[in-house]
Amino acid sequence: MLTNFNSMLQTAYEQKKAIGSFNFYNYETLKGILRAAGQMDTPVIVSFGKKYLSNMSFDEVKAITAASAALCRTDVCLHLDHCDKMDIIYQAIRAGFTSVMYDGSALPFEENAANTQKICEIAHACGVSVEAELGSLAAGEASHEGSADDVEVYTSPDAAKEFVERTGVDALAVSIGTVHGLYKGTPNIRTDILRAINEKLHMPLVLHGGSGTPEAKVKECISNGIAKINVNTEISDYTVQHTRELLEKENPHLSVAALNQIQYVSEVVRKYMGIFAN
Ligand code: 13P
Repeated sequence: MLTNFNSMLQTAYEQKKAIGSFNFYNYETLKGILRAAGQMDTPVIVSFGKKYLSNMSFDEVKAITAASAALCRTDVCLHLDHCDKMDIIYQAIRAGFTSVMYDGSALPFEENAANTQKICEIAHACGVSVEAELGSLAAGEASHEGSADDVEVYTSPDAAKEFVERTGVDALAVSIGTVHGLYKGTPNIRTDILRAINEKLHMPLVLHGGSGTPEAKVKECISNGIAKINVNTEISDYTVQHTRELLEKENPHLSVAALNQIQYVSEVVRKYMGIFAN
């Protein structure tokens, strides 16, 4: 069933687990993520970014997700990933997305808070959950999100408290040292900052940049309030690499290559679901 993320994140937060939010770009990636959710019997967030609108329109995304989720035993949240344009967020809500992320992290605090508050008013009236971001992630290697000149700005715990009180946002993405894409060196994940934010907010927090984050750090983050973890780069890298190996071995019909890609996506998603649930 398609739902917003509120009850899945609240339950995960209370149980000190995290729900995976996996990016998809086409039918194969969507099916791979949902296959993994069925196999692991876990709720899932399928996340579509506006940069992939040249692959599929919001209406097409909603139609295939609703049809596929209807065949799933688990709850599925259809989420709009990082979006800094309010009109595009409204288009996604109109198309039937059950959740949105307004990313005003590049704006001054006041503007980010005012825009997020407006989005929350409209989204909540439609039963749609809202994630926002305070602080800013750097871009790692091969990042498909943000830009190469993005710099790390850690989230301030005091500012986070004021932001949540003013906006009524359902989940807050925090910047604590993870990067979009793969790490260039050893990651320095600031769980001390995360702990301070969680002590002030007591609500589901979101970790972006899941790909390549060391498992022990991921678990430490989950025990300190992270209830939603985003993964994109590794889904793409793993699937491209295995597709290349397949094509080196044989010359499959495209329909067979597509079936294999669903399998590759489900393998990497299952790996992360296992980490997030323990
Ligand atoms: P990665 O590409 O590093 O997994 O980050 C994904 C993400 O944060 C999506 O919003």
